[in-house]
Amino acid sequence: MATIRRIGILTSGGDAPGMNAAIRAVTRAAIFSGMEVKGIMRGYKGLISDEIETFNSSSVSNIIQQGGTILKTARSKEFMTPEGRQIAYDTLVREGIDALVVIGGDGSLTGAKLFAQEYNFPIVGLPGTIDNDLSGTDMTIGYDTALNTIMEAVDKIRDTASSHERLFFIEVMGRECGYLAINGAIATGAEAAIIPEMAYEKDQLGELISQGFRKSKNSSLVLVTEGDITGGAMAMAERMKNEYPQYDVRVSILGHVQRGGSPSASDRILASRMGAAAVDALNEGQRNVMIGIENDKIVYVPFSKAIKKNKPFNDDLMNTLRILSI
Ligand code: F6P
Repeated sequence: MATIRRIGILTSGGDAPGMNAAIRAVTRAAIFSGMEVKGIMRGYKGLISDEIETFNSSSVSNIIQQGGTILKTARSKEFMTPEGRQIAYDTLVREGIDALVVIGGDGSLTGAKLFAQEYNFPIVGLPGTIDNDLSGTDMTIGYDTALNTIMEAVDKIRDTASSHERLFFIEVMGRECGYLAINGAIATGAEAAIIPEMAYEKDQLGELISQGFRKSKNSSLVLVTEGDITGGAMAMAERMKNEYPQYDVRVSILGHVQRGGSPSASDRILASRMGAAAVDALNEGQRNVMIGIENDKIVYVPFSKAIKKNKPFNDDLMNTLRILSI
């Protein structure tokens, strides 16, 4: 097994609070163990266009508290083609980079898996996404901060909803995964959550109405995951207005505010532990794994398991929400 002398770090896909803390941790842990570090700008896009900077310890000073990513991010269409990946590989060879640390979500780690297989290139992934949709880890970097952002916003909406006795459909992120919606709903005492995991199984809004939704309440909050699978908050509100014109319905779309802001303590610590663990993993000869955390212990999760989109949805959450919103 060849010794790794120079690593490249990149962030890819939707940004997430705590990505900077992860970049800092990987950089510092790598330097501590004698490696050189290169920061790759704009994710896989920067690998193709050779936008690469040398990082030292002070390149990552003062960023642990910042949202976003100093490396910028992108969703690269070109990297999805064999030709794009060949150019990316040529860049790595030219820059003398022996291994990559990829910080991102499902799409980014799917790209990493493919590239690692095609070129037999060592990659370790860090789960950086507000969606919490990767398997093999209890939490992803950015999820806790986004959940707290949702909680603060929904608390404010509750004030006006109850003053005006209105029904609010509040749209949150996670177009393919309902963790933000369901836990956001539990944390704010909302009435219900409409999530992609249930969308194919049943008519979630219809069920809510038939269960006597809102009978004894003067205002209600329903969190809806954005995107085509649920149809989003606007569609829910339209249907409600048509079928129940007596309700005073409003929509609030939280949008990209959920991806920004200073990371919570929990995300900073998670990112720092995972970043240091990524360097340990490379030094131990681990290849093509995502760093996860389970029961407070660092674990190595093969990419194929992490990205299967099979993170089991915790049904207890839905039951808890249902019971507490009577
Ligand atoms: O996957 C991350 C995520 O923020 C999802 O939660 C959200 O549904 C989507 O990305 C939004 O994508 P975009 O950045 O293209 O608006």
